[in-house]
Amino acid sequence: AKYSRITGTGSFLPPRRVTNDDLARELAQRGIETSDQWIVERTGIRARHFAAADVSSSDLGFEAARHALEAAGKTAQDVDLIIVATSTPDMVFPSTAAILQNKLGIAGCAAFDVQAVCSGFVYALTVADAMIRANGVKCALVVGAEVFSRILDFNDRTTCVLFGDGAGAVVLEASETPGILASDLHADGKHVGILCVPGHVSGGEVLGKPLLHMDGQAVFKLAVRVLEEAARATLQKAGRTDADIDWLIPHQANIRIMEGTAKKLKLPLEKLVVTVHEHGNTSAASIPLALDEAVRSGKVKPGETVMLEGVGGGFTWGAVLLDM
Ligand code: ACO
Repeated sequence: AKYSRITGTGSFLPPRRVTNDDLARELAQRGIETSDQWIVERTGIRARHFAAADVSSSDLGFEAARHALEAAGKTAQDVDLIIVATSTPDMVFPSTAAILQNKLGIAGCAAFDVQAVCSGFVYALTVADAMIRANGVKCALVVGAEVFSRILDFNDRTTCVLFGDGAGAVVLEASETPGILASDLHADGKHVGILCVPGHVSGGEVLGKPLLHMDGQAVFKLAVRVLEEAARATLQKAGRTDADIDWLIPHQANIRIMEGTAKKLKLPLEKLVVTVHEHGNTSAASIPLALDEAVRSGKVKPGETVMLEGVGGGFTWGAVLLDM
């Protein structure tokens, strides 16, 4: 096919909603002090959802995928590629995508995970687009699914208040009209230490500390710069300008980073899709969650131009420009 195009979106949040006050009360029992006011002022986050202990990324991804397929008017049998972006996979292996495939009741199509932390969804969407244009894939399911609550250090107030669980999905189909217009992906592994979960499995044991570690200020500074660069590079590849963007849907980590990027792209804040206040940072799930909410609420309409952009551990970053 010449192009790929999103034909359906879906998302799912685990039912347990935890407000900043709820979290502050839980942390107080550990002798850790935080407040709704601190969290809202620094991040824009008011609440996040946490999955129950027996719920995995593939469970959340399954619900999001079901909604996306329904919106696209497709069934699981139509799917010929599954890519899951996650940093909180169900197992070391097999991939969450393979587990999700089985939960969808299908077999045979290619299924694999993409690991680029909070940039995972823009990476996965770019790979799916390339496989549709070059490998004859007709109907791809691209999912971002995370249970970040599992890797949070609840003794570290500088990080545990920032993240949540959830999943978002899109159906990306072969098309004679665009669709995905351009994308721009990057990584710089020298920054591994500013955002990482420095643990691994060896000899039947977990070595290192498998909990999220982040230098928030270092991430913040890098994020604002690289997000503008990626957005500009993507616009240039597509032959478009700032003025063509109807909606900016950035990775939902911090309202100040998101507004900073919108300003650099000279976009009025009304064009910024924000879900971080209700979802927290759901890593690879945040962009498809925000996209689905914007589509279902009637904000993002068919034919409009949307800029997706992500930044995360690795350091990784990237953007995708598309027509809905
Ligand atoms: N409650 C109350 N006080 C807190 C909390 C908390 N939860 N956390 C930190 N503080 C205190 C600190 O101890 C510090 O106190 P001190 O001045 O007495 O030392 C003070 O608040 C300020 O802390 P800073 O770290 O300077 O706060 P900052 O304004 O930088 O905000 C934040 C921190 C929100 C983490 C910010 O740096 C940020 O958003 N960074 C980017 C993070 C990000 O986007 N990460 C996602 C990347 S995506 C991925 O791949 C996972």
